[in-house]
Amino acid sequence: MLRDLSVPLFSMLRALDNAMDLVSPALVDHHKRVAYIAASIAATLGASRGEQHDLLVAGMLHDIGALSLRERLVTLRFEEPDLQLHAERGYALLAGFELLPGFAPFASVAPLIRFHHLPWQDGLGARSRGGDVPAGSHILHLADRVAVLLDTDRPPLVQAQEITEQIAEHAGSVFVPELVRAFQTLATKEYFWLDAASPSLDLVLARWIRGATVDLDLAGLSALSRLFSEIIDFRSPFTAAHSSGVAATAEALAAMMGFSETECRTMRIAGGLHDLGKLAVPVEILEKPGPLTAGEYRIVKTHTYYTYRVLESIPGLETINQWGAYHHERLDGNGYPFHLAAADLPLGSRIVAVADTFAALTEDRPYRKGMAPEDALALVREKVQENALDGSVVAKLESHFAEVNALRQAAQAEAARQFAQIREALGAP
Ligand SMILES: [Fe+2]
Ligand SMILES: [Fe+2]
Ligand SMILES: [Fe+2]
Repeated sequence: MLRDLSVPLFSMLRALDNAMDLVSPALVDHHKRVAYIAASIAATLGASRGEQHDLLVAGMLHDIGALSLRERLVTLRFEEPDLQLHAERGYALLAGFELLPGFAPFASVAPLIRFHHLPWQDGLGARSRGGDVPAGSHILHLADRVAVLLDTDRPPLVQAQEITEQIAEHAGSVFVPELVRAFQTLATKEYFWLDAASPSLDLVLARWIRGATVDLDLAGLSALSRLFSEIIDFRSPFTAAHSSGVAATAEALAAMMGFSETECRTMRIAGGLHDLGKLAVPVEILEKPGPLTAGEYRIVKTHTYYTYRVLESIPGLETINQWGAYHHERLDGNGYPFHLAAADLPLGSRIVAVADTFAALTEDRPYRKGMAPEDALALVREKVQENALDGSVVAKLESHFAEVNALRQAAQAEAARQFAQIREALGAP
């Protein structure tokens, strides 16, 4: 089951997009739509398969640096002054990422994302000043604006002409004239608009990417889950090191509970992805400097449901999904969102639940300081009494406390260092 793990990179990117889209109906399929339009323009221009593929991936990731709901909605507007920050942040997250040592699948994609809001004229200036704006970023920019203009609540074909005219008005200023001409050619074809507005855009993209996507084994998935945990956690300083801490703690506990090496590595991935559904929770709620209202708490509670539903669509991830997404279930059946009880909670899920509770208690939150590790352990013990957490797992945490806690701290310190590095690169305080 775990030995033959092979997951297409594309499926994982789609899962990330699906989770990010949940934060607002206005954003649904925006990433995929931009991917489709950008790759279609590239194909019209006669770009190579490799260039088309880069644009598909860049489209699917282009707004990962937009953190708050406000910021994400702003990316959908025209001529906002602060559009560059999320583009730089996306670049910073992806630029140094290696799937395996020496293999950086996003190296050619990151620079496209960096300049995806740069008007063509400004790009010319940047180039003359020695900046390096890749041609593909202008395609991505054009695709992004077309996607924003397309209103998916109206029939696409009735909008085609109007959108094409609006884009053409900016040829030679905001957009590269040659790209606008390619877009105009593409825009005469009905299938393009019907695809772009299709609710089954997933399938269109999957067909396009077939044969070009990398298959991830355990090592690849492990590296990717680290990148995903940064995308999930770096939205807020309060959560910046959370998934890393959970992953390290869960892996250590799994080893102590007798899990095999493969299972331990799988556990690390489950820890990295357990809060994937938090991408669906507005950062405004995660950072609220006070107690949440009942309504806000209900929104926070949706995150494990979304982790589960989003990962569920990927064959091969069943174990990782159960271990990761059940972390707010309780042995007494009073957890959420499935209200599973002891009989249905595998040991792997119980380990992540303990790791999550322990790590979270030690972290600062907007409304409280992080607890000392020993105090966190005491609270975790109480949760065994309440029949929420598994006593055998907590016993391991207790008997190997110094060791597990040191591993958690080291992982969180490393995540905090990465987070600080990205903030510094962006000139943030
Ligand atoms: Fe953007
Ligand atoms: Fe959680
Ligand atoms: Fe968590």
